[in-house]
Amino acid sequence: MRTRRGRPGFSHLLTPGTIGPITLPNRVIMPAMDMNVCHDGVVTDDDIEHYAARAAGGTGMVITSASAVAFPVGATSLKEPGLSDDRFIPGLRALADAVHRAGSLLCVQATHHGKVARVDTLQGRPLLVPSAPEGALDLSSLQDNTPDELAQMGAVTAGRTPTYREATEEDLSWLVEQFAQAARRVMVAGADAMEIHCAHGYILGGFLSRADNRRTDRWGGSLENRARLACDVIAAVRREVGDRLAVIVRVAGEEYGEEAALTRQEAVAAAQLFEAAGADAIHVTGWGRNPFRDFLKGPLPNEVGAYRDNARAMKAAVSIPVIAVGRVLPEVGEEMIAAGEADFVAMGRQLLADPELVDKLRAGRRESVRPCINCYVCVERNFWDDTPVCAVNPALGDEQAAVLLPVPSPRHVVVVGGGPAGMETARVARERGHRVTLVEAGDRLGGSAWFSQLTTPANGPLLAWQQHELERLGVVVLLGRRATAESLLALRPSTVVLATGATRGRPAVPGADLPHVQTGDTLRALLTGTSSPSADREAWRSGRTLRWLARAGRLTGATKRPELLRRATATFLPVGKNVVVIGGSLVGLELAEFFAERGKSVTVLEEGAQLGLPMALPRRWYAVRRAADHGVRLERRAVPEEITATSVVYRDAEGRRSTVAADLVVVASEVSSGAPLAKELADRGVAVEVVGDAGEVGYIQGAVHSAWQVARSL
Ligand SMILES: Cc1cc2nc3c(=O)[nH]c(=O)nc-3n(C[C@H](O)[C@H](O)[C@H](O)COP(=O)(O)O)c2cc1C
Ligand code: SF4
Repeated sequence: MRTRRGRPGFSHLLTPGTIGPITLPNRVIMPAMDMNVCHDGVVTDDDIEHYAARAAGGTGMVITSASAVAFPVGATSLKEPGLSDDRFIPGLRALADAVHRAGSLLCVQATHHGKVARVDTLQGRPLLVPSAPEGALDLSSLQDNTPDELAQMGAVTAGRTPTYREATEEDLSWLVEQFAQAARRVMVAGADAMEIHCAHGYILGGFLSRADNRRTDRWGGSLENRARLACDVIAAVRREVGDRLAVIVRVAGEEYGEEAALTRQEAVAAAQLFEAAGADAIHVTGWGRNPFRDFLKGPLPNEVGAYRDNARAMKAAVSIPVIAVGRVLPEVGEEMIAAGEADFVAMGRQLLADPELVDKLRAGRRESVRPCINCYVCVERNFWDDTPVCAVNPALGDEQAAVLLPVPSPRHVVVVGGGPAGMETARVARERGHRVTLVEAGDRLGGSAWFSQLTTPANGPLLAWQQHELERLGVVVLLGRRATAESLLALRPSTVVLATGATRGRPAVPGADLPHVQTGDTLRALLTGTSSPSADREAWRSGRTLRWLARAGRLTGATKRPELLRRATATFLPVGKNVVVIGGSLVGLELAEFFAERGKSVTVLEEGAQLGLPMALPRRWYAVRRAADHGVRLERRAVPEEITATSVVYRDAEGRRSTVAADLVVVASEVSSGAPLAKELADRGVAVEVVGDAGEVGYIQGAVHSAWQVARSL
């Protein structure tokens, strides 16, 4: 896979490939991702721009979001594409034309959402299911939703409670015909393929899974019976379109989280039946059956190459092409295709983050691909029927905005702070033609996000990408320079952009100054060997072992290598046994898991009612559960009252005074924005902007988006 110059090559990914009657220019497919921008089922210009941008970026084929074959019946949103009437054809045709003009192929994903057809509930219809659901879903994760989030989720169905109806023979004949007619419309619109959705709990997937299908008629029981509905749909679609459309079937290679879930063996056997029924390709996804608990297992896995084994098993069992999905990074995809584990790979979130992925690989510019950081911000909004935003790609949903207009008269922009906000400002300003100098107090770029790699490794590639782009663009980076008004004025800036990050304080309780109490800043300074006058002063008050650890790290260079630091601290972290984290937000929860994974006994004290804010919902649910699985004691509505040399005293949710042992106290609360230099500079007549946490605490998404807005306006 390596080229002669030692860089990864992508010859397998970039080779054309065939699915039934169509040939894709390369092996990279964009899988279905809801954009929720249709109007009453009609494709809009926003849809077209979104897909055309991915097509123009070199993607071999783009698949639309799930589209409802019986719209609005069986739809999950009125903003998803409809396929149930000829009135939907012109929009689809405009989409197909735009994608073709951009050099790619279009596949339309078709489904009936079955038990998740929220529009049916909204409009007062029962949900069509194989069997009435048994037992209640575990909804305990929802305790960490804010009232606003709960209200938005409830509003999608106007707060109505779903009712269910077991499908009759008549319903199933109707459904098969709906798919066939949908395929005709897709074909007439000029698309190249249709993907039949047989996963994620939608109706065909429901029939396939023992956990949803307890029927005793010819549609239930044996695998053949459970796969019958999907096979009938495939055959009917095939009859309708002949070989004028490629017919792809999306199936879970495995379902997760329940005893009776679909197994890999069953999924493979079903794929063989789908092939016999006329499918041209199998697209192997995965599904965690309870989205509030298992969403990070599927359909949006947390792990890189999560469904690789399932794709490999499928590939060994069928003779039609197999499409693999699930955090497939380019290197993983290349390896899988080279090894014969898959024929095509679908990259979802990665193509939201960077529509030009394929073109960049083709041009040998792998390092310029903006990485997805697996933060789940995009999909969160699907929970309330909204359009995704991307934490790292602010142009998602507004592709015109991705075009950075050159400035008529370049000026000197000085950016203070080398975290994600500072680097994004510098990148965009420089890309537009300004001369840019970035001043950073520390000895490296990345700011507090550099430290976050210890707990969230997926943040690392974003920093590496930003740094690479600054080098490529020729931004002047001055490290180890603590900015003052004088030093900035000496640089003769036209504009100064302050991206100096948040301030992290201590709680106003007795004992908050004790040596074993660390704030985010002091902990970062200690573990990464970085320094700032205040952090140094504070860090010095910390325990002797921690100081020793920091010195050892600095000498060995470990403090500059997150992977090494992660591994080193996994075997040796002399902070005592008991760790109390004050503040159970995103950072607090991740730190808690970090310490718990290293064998510490960890307690999180969160004053609010929810943990994990502002993590995107599915990741929040997962993080809270993982922390609990690691044995972290999680206390919501817990107010610290005093810190002693060996404990933290707090008022618990019931108002009782409780005490928890603490050898180390980490303060992850008390984070506030602020940029004191702003006033000083403004008073001296300098144009100043503030971005990132210095302006408003918003972590990586807030940092990148605010920086992008400001840099585009300079
Ligand atoms: C915002 C969003 C919406 C999605 N909507 C759909 C959908 O409509 N149909 C579907 O089959 N999968 C959907 N998915 C799942 C993706 O198709 C894909 O399988 C998943 O994101 C895993 O691939 P990735 O790790 O490359 O992102 C969605 C994913 C995202 C991020
Ligand atoms: S929002 Fe986060 S998970 Fe979604 S595509 Fe962007 S970076 Fe990836």
